[in-house]
Amino acid sequence: MPETGDCGLQLKGVVKSFATATALAGIDVSLPAGRFSVLLGPSGCGKSTLLRLIAGLDQVSAGEIWHGATRIDGLPPKARNLSMVFQSYALFPHLTVAENILFGLSVRGVARAEQRTRLDRVAGMMGLSELLSRKPAELSGGQQQRVALARAVVSERPICLMDEPLSNLDAKLRAEMRSEIRALQQRLGLTMVYVTHDQVEAMTMADLIVVMNAGRIEQVATPRLLYARPQTVFVAGFIGTPPMNLIPRTALGSVPAPQGTATIGIRPEDMTLQGDGHRVEARVREVEYLGADTLVALEIDGARVVLRQSGQAAPLRDRVTATLPGDRLHFFDSRGQRIARPDDDLSDQQETSRDPFLQANPLGDRDPRIAVAAGLGG
Ligand SMILES: Nc1ncnc2c1ncn2[C@@H]1O[C@H](COP(=O)(O)OP(=O)(O)OP(=O)(O)O)[C@@H](O)[C@H]1O
Ligand SMILES: [Mg+2]
Repeated sequence: MPETGDCGLQLKGVVKSFATATALAGIDVSLPAGRFSVLLGPSGCGKSTLLRLIAGLDQVSAGEIWHGATRIDGLPPKARNLSMVFQSYALFPHLTVAENILFGLSVRGVARAEQRTRLDRVAGMMGLSELLSRKPAELSGGQQQRVALARAVVSERPICLMDEPLSNLDAKLRAEMRSEIRALQQRLGLTMVYVTHDQVEAMTMADLIVVMNAGRIEQVATPRLLYARPQTVFVAGFIGTPPMNLIPRTALGSVPAPQGTATIGIRPEDMTLQGDGHRVEARVREVEYLGADTLVALEIDGARVVLRQSGQAAPLRDRVTATLPGDRLHFFDSRGQRIARPDDDLSDQQETSRDPFLQANPLGDRDPRIAVAAGLGG
């Protein structure tokens, strides 16, 4: 089993510049030990670059990386006590499943008997026991993926790094593998750093999500807090399917908003066509039935706004009155930063009282980069 009781990973002012561009412009974050952290953001935002710096495959241009009390950014990859799974899982085609899984241990000179014990345990855990003598070409994509995971797990390193490991699987298998990886991480108490650009993957798997954009961190929070209290317009527009409506303040002239509000946000499921709240005249532009619910595209003073109704919506007239509950509104200033609401702290408290992770790890995320206190998972 991996050692526990360490203090996770700390990134301090990490910068990575290439000849042509700066990929990371100063990353400060703590990733707690024994927890599942996800680096989430659009293509090109610097996720893989950050993971490669943690792994030691590239060197930082500035800043420090710590694992517990050890500074690791100067160490070679093999001295960093971590395992990696990449998108292209690159199994050796001429080796059997067992040989592929044990390859790293053989190289490290781990005793045969110990290799056998670990192999049996990992193969059982990953459902690979029946497949150990096959070659990779005789496996399905999902089975190959599990071999790659087993190869990382068998090393019993306390930190596991994964870069989009499920991106070439079909939707059903991806869903299965998500829960398998999550269960494995919890069972082994691994400190996981998992890269994805898929917000559903991030929301379903993570204890902690680090949202990145253009080489910077936008927000660090649990999935629930990220959804309930996005700190920037970018995060608000990135999380949720469909994401939060971001409406120019000018299109909602009658709705009260704090001084300095440039954009008003409201999630599609928080709007209704009846009920309490600020009432706004809207034109119906499009109705999309999804089965369990219906998306209604509205136009409010030139702004396109999506409303989600559960169940089959009754046929709509061309003009309707949309209702925006005051306590469901999010306000952002002209720089795209959240304007704190008086009840923001309260909702934070409520989240905390429901979520055992938050109880143990109060997240002071008024500053989006404030890290989770170290070592909480240990
Ligand atoms: N070796 C390199 N030389 C120059 N620029 C690079 C190099 N590697 C990455 N970059 C640039 O750094 C930025 C971040 O790249 P990175 O691969 O980290 O993105 P990513 O978030 O992993 O994106 P994706 O989701 O597409 O994998 C990009 O603009 C990329 O073009
Ligand atoms: Mg990448």
